[in-house]
Amino acid sequence: MTAEIRGIGAFIPEKVITNEDLCKTVDTTDEWIKSHTGIEKRHMIADEDATSDMATRAARVAMERAQVDAEELDMIIVSSVTGDYPGFPSTACLVQKNLGAEQAGAFDILAGCTGFIYGLSIAKNMILGGDFKHILVIGAESLTRITNWDDRNTCVLFGDGAGAAIVSANNHVDGRGILQSVLKAEGAGAEYLMRKAGGSRHPLNAETNIADNLLSMNGRRVYGFAVRVNTILINSLLKKHNLRIGDIKYIVPHQANERIIQAVSERMNIPMDKFYLNIREYANTSAASVPLALNEMVEKKLLNKGDLIMTLGFGAGLTYGGNLIRW
Ligand code: UT7
Repeated sequence: MTAEIRGIGAFIPEKVITNEDLCKTVDTTDEWIKSHTGIEKRHMIADEDATSDMATRAARVAMERAQVDAEELDMIIVSSVTGDYPGFPSTACLVQKNLGAEQAGAFDILAGCTGFIYGLSIAKNMILGGDFKHILVIGAESLTRITNWDDRNTCVLFGDGAGAAIVSANNHVDGRGILQSVLKAEGAGAEYLMRKAGGSRHPLNAETNIADNLLSMNGRRVYGFAVRVNTILINSLLKKHNLRIGDIKYIVPHQANERIIQAVSERMNIPMDKFYLNIREYANTSAASVPLALNEMVEKKLLNKGDLIMTLGFGAGLTYGGNLIRW
């Protein structure tokens, strides 16, 4: 038995914020944003929505494509740094209620932009353990709700959206499924990407500085980390299965910055067209970015049954990880 991705779906909010829009509020330019990140626009969650609403819509698309009904779901895993509530209840429980998935357990994971990569691996191992058949894995973020709109270093980088996958037991002998995962962390870099206030270390109170309740990042530190760990991930996923880069149809990286991928491509001598990029349209959507990319690839019919692909993630924690998947 393997654990395969049986269906994938996404939800992107309609509202768009262009680079030009941001030039009106902070000291930046379209040229700077494009040349330093590759980003042209980002989508913003509707005022009346929260993360679980986007997650539910993405889940419905994935379930329809996988032909798995709500009552067949055994578990719902949501990865998000922008859940509906700080801490609890979990966003996964809200999605479970929205879907009417009454037989499903539900929990959230917190692994920053690597969350969907962690989620796929957890789902795979739960299925291979034999107790679960269909698991809904979601990466969903409303990062614009925790963006510091006065900080040009970060406000140009992030966007909102949700992506979902149905991971199911595959009893065919076609070898399709999530073959291997590498999940890692470097907690020593925790302070480089954080939301400082609102937890037990700095509880919210009347003295809380509003900026401390929003996302902050040491961009240069995270950039160096990202280039280094992507190289490690690609090498370790190839090595374990004795593969060469030519065996991989696509690498689907977390979409944080096109320049990070360019640096990895140059260092490892991997052509840029091996990496699937859509950051131009959506900016960095953290845990949603890899499933959004996979969904787009499916809709563009870029993936055929049996293709080998790699997903890569890196982000807050600091965490990093990758999955090798036979589609
Ligand atoms: O998803 C989680 C993981 N996150 C990431 O992977 C992000 C990793 N980091 C990055 O992608 C890049 O470091 C950034 C895009 C955040 C920044 O690009 P950079 O080329 O590393 O810029 P920098 O931080 O070295 O800053 C260069 C200059 C600074 O000015 P000074 O201090 O040299 O005068 C910044 O103030 O660019 C300035 N700057 C801007 N200028 C215009 C920073 N943001 C902006 C901006 N517009 N939006």
